[in-house]
Amino acid sequence: MTTLSTTTPGVRQTDFRFRCIACGNLSDEASQNFRCANCGDLLEIIYPHWKETANNLRSTWSQRRLSQSAVDLSGVWRFRELLPAIESDDQAITLREGNTPLYDLPQCARLTGVPRLLAKHQGMNPTGSFKDAGMTVAATFARRSGFRWVACASTGNTSASMAAYAARGGLRSLVLVPEGKISWSKLSQALDYGAVTCQLCTDFDGCLKLLQELVLRAPVYQLNSINPFRLEGQKTLALELLEQLDWQPPDHIIVPGGNLGNSSAIGKALLEMRDLGLISQLPKLSVIQAEGANALVRTLREAAGKSLISVRAETRATAIRIGNPASWKKAAHVLEATGGACEQVTEIEIAQAKAEIGAEGIGCEPASAVTLAGLKKLLQRGFVKPQESVVLVLTGNLLKDPDFTMEFHRGDLFKGTRDEDASAALNPLRRPPMVLDATLDAVIRTLEQAENSP
Ligand code: F0G
Repeated sequence: MTTLSTTTPGVRQTDFRFRCIACGNLSDEASQNFRCANCGDLLEIIYPHWKETANNLRSTWSQRRLSQSAVDLSGVWRFRELLPAIESDDQAITLREGNTPLYDLPQCARLTGVPRLLAKHQGMNPTGSFKDAGMTVAATFARRSGFRWVACASTGNTSASMAAYAARGGLRSLVLVPEGKISWSKLSQALDYGAVTCQLCTDFDGCLKLLQELVLRAPVYQLNSINPFRLEGQKTLALELLEQLDWQPPDHIIVPGGNLGNSSAIGKALLEMRDLGLISQLPKLSVIQAEGANALVRTLREAAGKSLISVRAETRATAIRIGNPASWKKAAHVLEATGGACEQVTEIEIAQAKAEIGAEGIGCEPASAVTLAGLKKLLQRGFVKPQESVVLVLTGNLLKDPDFTMEFHRGDLFKGTRDEDASAALNPLRRPPMVLDATLDAVIRTLEQAENSP
């Protein structure tokens, strides 16, 4: 068994640059807020010296599956030719992220009418969300740049992931989360991994604004998806997906949209794969938002994608309760470049889709379920054709938000809301827990009732 990582001579790239997404300014350094020194817009990472051939890359990546070194066991660093380079493998802070399953959803396929529906489950990452793929790269570069403190604003998953990677890398971490608006299970992860956790009396957008100011005043490295290293790591979701599909692109990839970093990352990967000749055809990348947090939907519909229309966000899918998405320009660009669509779904549609994914034995958190709800809408409006292949990106694990699941099955989720009456339609999907006498009769009666119900 080898502990050496697999490197192929001539494949490893050695440098990258930052490019402003608005004015195109190129630089070798980024300031602590990761904004262009010229115009203040966001930066992306580019690789001026890519010259690999697609064949080399594919075989290098698959060969690494046989290696036991930490960077090869990581489903992110395994694709390191398309990532910013580190000098030595032991610089990577890794928890064996990536390597997530691609599941068939046969019941959901039948419900929606597509022949085959796949789900790339990023909730199967070490801390239970897609954030780990970006965090391994960004935390690595935080430590490499000599920072002792990392920080993020979060709706919960980023903070859980950052706290874990910081702890693994010997860094201290500071978490800013909106008070009362994130799930306890995510908050408890940050506490367990040793983060300094601040619940601020504002929303996510308020937390992020404060963080942007903080990093200019204190020696703190920010790990939100404004940080372009995060997006480089998250790109590997698409590389791994295409590898799992034997490099045959699906017609559609559907992803939830909050701060819009993940959609931007996946889109960047698709465009890079096309440019490198790894795929010959681009899947259409579509973004789905909750109706109550629909800034991108409105920006594209009402402002033709030219200026951001922020909203006051409200949704029970708290992971995407974001009204002022930082990466909206990047997301608008990749939607246009891949020919994707943007849709919104209601709270009831989210709850229904989540229960349907759960009933497949897969499960996900509410924010991930917007993808299935969105697919139904995209089919209705004819954007997805019934014979086309579709991959949903499930971003978070079912266990991330147990309150939502319990309230749904107990019938409390919509109590006192304007959706209360309409939510009765979801009753057939509910499986409330029952309190019974501890007798055989009671259990057998329940079993018979369940057998005879649809
Ligand atoms: N799904 C889940 C489970 C999330 O946690 C998030 C974002 C998204 C989707 C949206 O991804 O922001 O890249 O568009 N969560 C962030 C957080 C904001 O702080 O955990 P996005």
